[in-house]
Amino acid sequence: MRKPLIAGNWKMHGSKSQVKALIEGIKQGADGFAEIDILVLPTFVHLAEAKTLLDASAIMLGAQNLYPGTQGAFTGEVAGPMLADLGCDYVLIGHSERRTLFHEDLALIAAKFKAAIEAGLKPILCVGETRDQREHGETVRVISEQIQSVIEAAGIEAFRQAVIAYEPVWAIGTGLTATPEQAQEVHAYIRQLLSQINVDIGKTIRILYGGSMKAENASSLLAMADIDGGLIGGASLDAASFLKICAAAMPMDNSVQKAKVN
Ligand code: PGA
Repeated sequence: MRKPLIAGNWKMHGSKSQVKALIEGIKQGADGFAEIDILVLPTFVHLAEAKTLLDASAIMLGAQNLYPGTQGAFTGEVAGPMLADLGCDYVLIGHSERRTLFHEDLALIAAKFKAAIEAGLKPILCVGETRDQREHGETVRVISEQIQSVIEAAGIEAFRQAVIAYEPVWAIGTGLTATPEQAQEVHAYIRQLLSQINVDIGKTIRILYGGSMKAENASSLLAMADIDGGLIGGASLDAASFLKICAAAMPMDNSVQKAKVN
């Protein structure tokens, strides 16, 4: 049984007071969501404060990026061990905004994934095709390349600590969402890809959907067999919206919990 994971990617948003309000809002509503994992991913500068605010709650903390290596002359960068030292559990690797805006290539992303594992962090490897690639029937080739390059560099066993997020680039921040069937097709493909190498890892790895997931569409996406949670951007900046998505991720027999935040 894979435990659902709902992760809020706050991107480059938030002031100290907004981070405080958001974490307090999520904490207040998160009681009773023991059957799912909840994760927030603030900016680097808000991580320490977020850790203090999360306090003894079960909500986990993650970073949006790291630089490979442990320390050194890399002005402006942050290493995995620093994030672990701050109390981070997870780190995003290869988000499409990093691939596109910051020109991160397959080799750098694989090195970052390895660095996360070495630092004891759980990498969330983001993969996804552009609209153009989808229209040209290249979705499977692109996703396969994005995952295989990491397997080659880090080894399949590293995926026991990892999460994969399927985020079609055309759905990120656009309001367009993959249909549950479109998303399920790719999630099933990703699981099969890993299963061919290691059946157990294929069965147990969590695969999140990301791309304009919100309260209104979360239930139908999360109901799909191979969708184990969500990586939420815009809708994670509002505690009530984020909590509704968390409620939608609760196992079906817990409809009482769903009613709580609806
Ligand atoms: P979105 O972002 O929910 O705003 O589309 C998702 C993401 O980029 O992780």
